[in-house]
Parts: sequence; C-alpha cells; structure tokens
Amino acid sequence: QARVGWERFQEIIADDKRIEPRDWMPDDYRKTLVRQVSQHAHSEIIGMQPEGNWISRAPSLKRKSVLMAKVQDEAGHGLYLYSAAETLGTSRDETYEQLYTGKAKYSSIFNYPARTWADVGAVGWLVDGAAITNQVPLCRASYGPYGRAMVRVCKEESFHQRQGWEILYTLSHGTQAQKQMAQDAVDRFYGPALQMFGPPDAESPNSQQSMAWNIKRFSNDVLRQRFVDMIVPQAEALGLTLPDPDLKWNEERGHYDYGELDWDEFFSVVKGDGPLNHQRLAHYRAARDNGAWVREAAAAYADKQAAAQQD
Ligand code: ACO
Repeated sequence: QARVGWERFQEIIADDKRIEPRDWMPDDYRKTLVRQVSQHAHSEIIGMQPEGNWISRAPSLKRKSVLMAKVQDEAGHGLYLYSAAETLGTSRDETYEQLYTGKAKYSSIFNYPARTWADVGAVGWLVDGAAITNQVPLCRASYGPYGRAMVRVCKEESFHQRQGWEILYTLSHGTQAQKQMAQDAVDRFYGPALQMFGPPDAESPNSQQSMAWNIKRFSNDVLRQRFVDMIVPQAEALGLTLPDPDLKWNEERGHYDYGELDWDEFFSVVKGDGPLNHQRLAHYRAARDNGAWVREAAAAYADKQAAAQQD
C-alpha cells in the first residue's frame, strides 16, 4: 500500500499536480507542510497586533474603517490556514497550544513596533508587499488546501498593499513633517521586510526539499530580489528613499544590487529576542485567556443544539 502510495505521490509531484488531504503522502512532506502552514497561520494572527494598535487612533473615519477591514482580513487568513493545517491531521487545539506556549515560530517582522501612523503605511506597502511576493507562487503549492487558501489571501493582500502605499503617498505629499514621518517609517521597515523572505539560500535548511516537493517554487533569495526590483521604482513614485547606500541597478544582472542585511539581528529576533517578542506573545495569551468563556459558551450551545436534535 505504501509503495503504491509513494509511486503515485512521486507521479503527482512530477506532473506538477496536486496532493489532496486523503492522498497518501510521505511523513516528511506532511511534517514540512504542517510546519510552514502553521507558522504562516500564526504570522497572520500575531500580525494583527501592530496595526490593531492603530485602529482607535486612525486619523479619519475612512482610514479607521479601512484599517479595521484589513486587520479582520488577517484574522480570516489565519483561520483559512489553521483549517489547511487541520486537513493534515493536526488539531487546532494542538496548533494554538504551540503558539500559546511560545514553541511555534511566526514571522520575524511582527516583533517590530508600529510607532507612528506612517508605520501603518509602511507595513501595508512593504510588509504586505513582501507577503504577496512570497505568496503568489504559493498559490501553486502542491498541497491543494494550502494553494487554494493562498489565492484568496493574495487577492486581499493586494488591497492591503495598495492601502499602505496610498497612506505613504498622502504623507509624502503632505507637510514636511508628514513626509519625514513617512521616510522614517520606510527607514525602519525596509530591512526587516527584506528579511521576511527567510535566511540567505546558503543558510536555509528547508528550501531545497520544499522546492523539490513543489511547495516553495522559488528560493528565499530569488523572491527577495524580485521584491527589491519591485519596490525601487515604487519608492521613487512615492518620493521616498530606501535606506541602502549599496542599492544600485546592475545592468549585467538585470536586477538591483542591494547591501548585506543584518542577519545577526534576524536570527536574534527569530530566537525570541526581538524588540517586541515578549509583548506580542503576552498579548496573544491574554486575548486567548479572556476569550475562553466565549469558546466555552459556544461549545455548550452547540452541545445543547445537538442534544435537542436527538430528542
Ligand atoms: N521569521 C521567522 N522565522 C523564519 C523567517 C522569518 N522571516 N524566515 C525563515 N524562518 C525560519 C523558518 O521557519 C525555519 O524554521 P524551522 O526550520 O524551525 O521551522 C528557519 O527559519 C529556516 O528557514 P528556511 O529553511 O528558509 O525555512 P522555509 O523553507 O520554511 O522558508 C519562508 C521560510 C520563506 C518564510 C516559508 O516558510 C514561507 O514561504 N512561508 C509562508 C509565508 C509566511 O509564512 N509568511 C508569513 C508572513 S506574511 C503575513 O503573515 C502577512
């Protein structure tokens, strides 16, 4: 049975088709997907915090309602992804527990503070821009539920990126102080946004196998380069600069060269020592604890409904 399954699995991957939840799959394939999909889900959930912090202080009613919709979208993305992880045989309780206890990883970027309103713009433009660059190829991930979830996620992320760009555009065409606020936000988020793509290829233990399985379609460095090439002209259109003196068009490569990123900082944030790792997790735990009664009430109600149907 396992041999038939293995051959069929190899065939599906070689034909670039999709593995579905009931198909046989090697344990390592399942494990890699649970790891990536659950980390991705946690990133969406923790990612609500930096911008959630600005909902009550958005500068107008329009900005407030757009921001609320965006943060709510991120919650929805987390839920699709927890569902995708569930189809791989990992219960939600187990996945939630891993985040609650601090065992699980989530994207490094969400451990940085959103200090000003311009940061909300920079998060939308740079962080959601990096997310789309990374996630569009994931729409073709070999695992069906993950790839399909990504299609909708990417549509929503495109809206998020545009709203961020528009916030920065408005600020950079406002007063000198507003333009300075926009520049300061871009200066702080540029490096951490580039690090969202993961460590350099030579230090990425999972890339090769994930690419052989058609989960990842491109390496971390290839996507990072694609992102840099995309944002340079966008920054020019914004009238803002990117904080990298080595950023330069390379005619021969047909790409922008960019400077070395601070990888010590990246690994320290991933290890849990970033500016806000403790605060992010504490906030998550408090929200989960405070919401326990809602979950209990919903479960009791569902039990009651089920019992009533049996009568
Ligand atoms: N932040 C935190 N951890 C990271 C980051 C990051 N930016 N990049 C890599 N890592 C971790 C990996 O999870 C991996 O840890 P593990 O082996 O303990 O699980 C380790 O560093 C080594 O990295 P890689 O071998 O390169 O890992 P992988 O092949 O999984 O690639 C990547 C990392 C590119 C993030 C991949 O997992 C991916 O594409 N994930 C889906 C997208 C995603 O999660 N986006 C989240 C942010 S976007 C948003 O939420 C709006």
